Amino acid sequence: MTSQIPVFKPLIEKEEIAAAVESLELGWLGMGSYVKQFEEAVADVCDLSPDRNKYVVAVSTGHAALHLSLLMIGVGPGDEVITPSFNNAADFQAIRACGAEPVFVDIDEDTLCIDPSKIEELITEKTKCIIAMDYDIFICDHDSLAAISHRTGIPILHDAAHSFGSSYKGRPIGNQHQYTMFSFDPVKTVTCVDGGAIVVSGEDAVKRLQAKRLIGMTQPAAQMYTNSRAWTYDMEELGFRYHMANLHAAIGVSQINKIDEIRKTPQQACKRYYEELSNLDWIDAPKGDFDAVNPFLYYIRVLNGTRAELREHMNQCGVDTGIHWQAGHSFSFLKDCRRGSLEVTDRIVQQILSLPLHSKMSDGDIDQVIHSVRSFK
Ligand SMILES: Cc1ncc(COP(=O)(O)O)c(C=O)c1O
Repeated sequence: MTSQIPVFKPLIEKEEIAAAVESLELGWLGMGSYVKQFEEAVADVCDLSPDRNKYVVAVSTGHAALHLSLLMIGVGPGDEVITPSFNNAADFQAIRACGAEPVFVDIDEDTLCIDPSKIEELITEKTKCIIAMDYDIFICDHDSLAAISHRTGIPILHDAAHSFGSSYKGRPIGNQHQYTMFSFDPVKTVTCVDGGAIVVSGEDAVKRLQAKRLIGMTQPAAQMYTNSRAWTYDMEELGFRYHMANLHAAIGVSQINKIDEIRKTPQQACKRYYEELSNLDWIDAPKGDFDAVNPFLYYIRVLNGTRAELREHMNQCGVDTGIHWQAGHSFSFLKDCRRGSLEVTDRIVQQILSLPLHSKMSDGDIDQVIHSVRSFK
């Protein structure tokens, strides 16, 4: 009897548990010194520096990071935001939370990331932002996206929830656009249990974000980072309770300290999945630049219409699988959103299947996943 291999499993070890206990014993549970350490650690991974005028603002979730970034860009009622329909629910909800409308664009068949050649035909005078999301093992064509942004003046919000610790053409993710967001939720390669971060340009933007994440209070972050607070402050604009807590930040710092260990096995598993599954003619097993990414997931495409049966078979073989994702335009909440042709998306959402990928997978686990696919008839 083999044990069930989950799709996700965080690498939580004695370091994370010690950090959590330490932060609780400190007694300052809200935003404080660990959040500062976490922001510095994220900036380090992204190779940001004040000379480049790029800064990190930690928040409570990736969704909060998206919402605040859109508000900072100035997205509001009546505006449109171009996003792949093949994206996470958090992106659609963040757009709607601003009172704006998603406009769905198709993805590139090879990378499943936004297709830059389909964006400009969807731009109108209402378009305020383009969301570009790196998907699993693939990174968007950021040069083409930057060129579109430059040509049209429309900012890119880079959803890098899947690509923290990855790089694009040798540059760490976080440096490609005006706004980048990360998620550190329970299933991400690097987790804070729940957490998010925004990479933003300019100290003024940092100040505004620091207030917006703290329900609008203009408390100096520098004071909160010493585990204390001001009792008087102003409130200048709309804000939300979106700050990160010390407990979550402490766990995140210990995760970032072992990022090389976290990504090692997933990179190896991706290579083996590719090597051993890409010769099957009824699936597509993608080849990525596995050494350049901190892989979040490895997906296969089931080409012969038997995804449900394959999932059932893999489950019987002790292997869990996931579906990332359903198309945005398939949700009743979003069914009327404007869109271009979504031909690739409509095909991919029928085929996509996520395989288990985590840092503690043994060679035997990887063999078991491969066997569970190969033994399907
Ligand atoms: C692409 C993408 N964007 C945004 C999010 C939202 O992040 P969070 O779960 O931290 O709110 C996720 C979460 O899975 C995601 O996959």
